[in-house]
Amino acid sequence: MKILVTGGAGYIGSHTVIELQAAGHEVVVVDNLVNSNLTALKRVEQISGKAVPFLEADLRDRAAMERVCGSYCFDCCVHFAGFKSVGESVSQPWKYYDNNITGTLVLLDVLGKTGCKNLIFSSSAAVYGEPEIIPVTEECPRGQCANPYAQSKFMLEQIMMDLQKADPEWNMVLLRYFNPIGAHKSGMIGEDPRGVPNNLMPYITQVAVGKLEKLSIFGDDYDTLDGTGVRDYIHVVDLAKGHVKVLDSIEGQCGLEIFNLGTGVGYSVLDVVKSFEKVNDVKIAYEIKERRAGDIAVCYSDPGKAQRVLGWKAEYGIEDMCRDSWNWQKNHPNGFKD
Ligand code: NAD
Ligand code: UD1
Repeated sequence: MKILVTGGAGYIGSHTVIELQAAGHEVVVVDNLVNSNLTALKRVEQISGKAVPFLEADLRDRAAMERVCGSYCFDCCVHFAGFKSVGESVSQPWKYYDNNITGTLVLLDVLGKTGCKNLIFSSSAAVYGEPEIIPVTEECPRGQCANPYAQSKFMLEQIMMDLQKADPEWNMVLLRYFNPIGAHKSGMIGEDPRGVPNNLMPYITQVAVGKLEKLSIFGDDYDTLDGTGVRDYIHVVDLAKGHVKVLDSIEGQCGLEIFNLGTGVGYSVLDVVKSFEKVNDVKIAYEIKERRAGDIAVCYSDPGKAQRVLGWKAEYGIEDMCRDSWNWQKNHPNGFKD
């Protein structure tokens, strides 16, 4: 299939481009590089041995989107582009709503008008808020979103549901990612956050490489086995492969489907720290701090629907994730600048 990948230079997008090309798909990337680096795509080309046609453009640039969609006639769009920092979304909500909502509205309009009505959308487990059911199934009601980032995902899901209802020719697949970590086995691409990382794994790897002094563990008084927060960490390559499985099932379909992409296994912050230390033989200095505002105690998926319907199941475990995250970071302490 001919596939438009928005945000394909980013962390999840670049890993997904590799898997899409390996599965024989023809990929075109549109990204404005606001949170990524062209080097990532160059490395993808080295890994896959195939060129990645690339257009540097903002999704909100309607003329550019019309040009690219008009000239390629895509079969499907895999839509990653958007802002994702929770803290920044709280201090700059307009920026988040404008980029995530406006960008997607332009994209959907241009795709529809150029006859591409297959869409795979990067949603987030954040739409469940504080989940009512653990493990979280797709039927679990969407919850109170704790920040504008999560709210933007919630709103975009709703927009897609309404659009699909009004025009049943659309085929929309909403993927709710849990906590992606890890990196490609080659260690050539990985997560490269700007500034001090907000998320657990990039913080750990930067402590390990000596760029940060110690990890702050946000709370050890949750109702969990060791008191620290529990999440469903998923290897980014497993996540990427999930998109290929969706594409295998998409042809000739119309409708809207939602899938959790997680492993179904919850690990605490201390579990992750211990696994990282064990498999990589490095020490992670840490201290226990106050809980982080907006955090929940436990969130992990029931990934059964993706297995039943798509035949997809995460293959990598927490030790693979820790090993691959470190393999990327130790070889590239400064991310794509190295
Ligand atoms: P990322 O920031 O690494 O990648 C996003 C890419 O989109 C970047 O390359 C950025 O330059 C590009 N982009 C942003 N706004 C754009 C615009 N207006 N026009 C063109 N390009 C634009 O993030 P990621 O971790 O790869 O996440 C990809 C998607 O998955 C995002 O939508 C994110 O919200 C979602 N998601 C991520 C996580 C996570 O933990 N990483 C969890 C759940 C959902
Ligand atoms: C966060 C976002 C979520 C978003 C996801 C992916 C919040 C509240 N939630 O999820 O909306 O979809 O990232 O971008 O920010 N931790 C520490 N020390 C750290 C960092 C994290 O102890 O320095 C703990 C957290 O308290 C949590 C766990 O590690 O228990 C995972 O945190 P993180 O990686 O930030 O992911 P989430 O909070 O699950």
